[in-house]
Amino acid sequence: MDSKDHEVKTQTVFRTLGSCEIGIPNPCGFIIFGASGDLTRRKIIPSFYRLQKNRLLPERFFILGTSRTEMGADQFREKMLSAVKEAFPGDFDEACWKEFAPLLHYSPIRYDFQESYGKSLRENLIQLEKKYQTGGNRTFYLALPPSLYEPVILNLGAINLSQEGRAHTHVVIEKPFGRDLDSARRLNQVLKHSFKETEIFRIDHYLALETVQNILMFRFANSIFEPLWNRRYIDHVQITVSETLGIEQRAGYYEEAGILRDMFQNHMFQLLALTAMEPPAVFAADPVRDEKVKVFRSIRPFPLDRFNECVAIGQYGKGKINQQPVPGYREEAGVSEKTTIPTFAAMKVLIDNWRWNGIPFYLRSGKRLSRRKTEISIHFRPVPHLMFSNTLNEPIEPNTLVLRVHPDEGMDLILQTKNSGSRVCLNPISMNFSYQKDVLMDAYEWVLLNCLSDDQLLFVREDGVEQTWALLTPVIEKLESLTSAEKFPNYASGSSGPEEADLLIKRDGREWRPL
Ligand code: BG6
Repeated sequence: MDSKDHEVKTQTVFRTLGSCEIGIPNPCGFIIFGASGDLTRRKIIPSFYRLQKNRLLPERFFILGTSRTEMGADQFREKMLSAVKEAFPGDFDEACWKEFAPLLHYSPIRYDFQESYGKSLRENLIQLEKKYQTGGNRTFYLALPPSLYEPVILNLGAINLSQEGRAHTHVVIEKPFGRDLDSARRLNQVLKHSFKETEIFRIDHYLALETVQNILMFRFANSIFEPLWNRRYIDHVQITVSETLGIEQRAGYYEEAGILRDMFQNHMFQLLALTAMEPPAVFAADPVRDEKVKVFRSIRPFPLDRFNECVAIGQYGKGKINQQPVPGYREEAGVSEKTTIPTFAAMKVLIDNWRWNGIPFYLRSGKRLSRRKTEISIHFRPVPHLMFSNTLNEPIEPNTLVLRVHPDEGMDLILQTKNSGSRVCLNPISMNFSYQKDVLMDAYEWVLLNCLSDDQLLFVREDGVEQTWALLTPVIEKLESLTSAEKFPNYASGSSGPEEADLLIKRDGREWRPL
């Protein structure tokens, strides 16, 4: 590759989408391992199609799908066409597909067979790089079960596909990043064998959600909230991710994971870190990730001898979702009859630093709950003196700021106002803001775009992964040894979760926000 090829990396062209300026990534080849799988069908290809539709893909770009399935490029395109039509029913754009389809290529592989990488994959890749003039920039995306990460990463390294040339090479991996601290460390070691940390993109799709990206802007671009964002003015924080869905067809994975591995080690702790972190000096990947890791390091270890004070778990039984009967977790296909895997957890987290000392963060997440809702609510302290007490009988509700992640992305600030016509009659009102839907990009579109643009801000760093596992591994192990089959199910599908979760917060004289 000559130096001219290398120059393609540094030019940034911007495109306006709605009111946003979005950078177009540099030319690149995108290689998907697991191209015949579900993730490629449901998320990756539909997201690339939408990026193409919005003219956000690099001018010189191709996708090379690879998996064990023997098929040709035409068959791969056919499969991806049906995936795109399925993903956007009623919104399929034939003209866009005609431009997009020729970018798709396919080459079969045997994941554990090194020769297969050197021969078919490399040969194909080099040919495509010449054809599309991508300057050798490569992104490898592992849309694979975790058991295949290791052979693929090591084989990419062994034949130097990960490091040849001077152009950029990225590897993208999906959670779960291990299943405990030891396996996470091992995975990081394997990754480091073939890639540098700056080339590793660990996806947590929550970081790419519009409202989640907005947390730092909201906190640090407005001067009116930050002075209040601490233990002097905040009473507590609640983070809720509730789902109405069950485990769908993922029993095999879920029986190994459970809610703490599936939602807390990643999404929940990332939301917590963005809410609690200090302002970094600059808004860039490493300074932001440094601050998040500082939060994880300041979290007080959970007291294993006084478990009930800080963790409550649950598993759904049968019930009704949207008036339709649904089975309990133990009745789902592929789930063992006596499983003790939790599908719900609530947690009280304390952060031992100057800003948050003594202020609890209550986290809860569960499947098959009454409503689909993701939000972060900041509960301010009550006013210090109630001068209306001579005329008001009831205590007044403290202010709450709600960052709505899903649905209806936006925010609410709940304030007290006087009812018109009365002398003193207070009424909580909500100041609302909703994002304009037409400019919203899907989380996966952001993830792909940022990865191609070499921006690690929305991705999780090695130390962040290990620190969160260090906190949760002892909790999970203790729970696994303590939980008996008789404990579950302890909440009905369509309810707001188990009673233990209510007790967890009521013990502190507080209540969950309704779902
Ligand atoms: C995934 C979990 O990471 O996040 C799923 O594996 C969960 O179990 C999903 O349902 C929730 O994401 P979202 O974007 O639907 O809130």
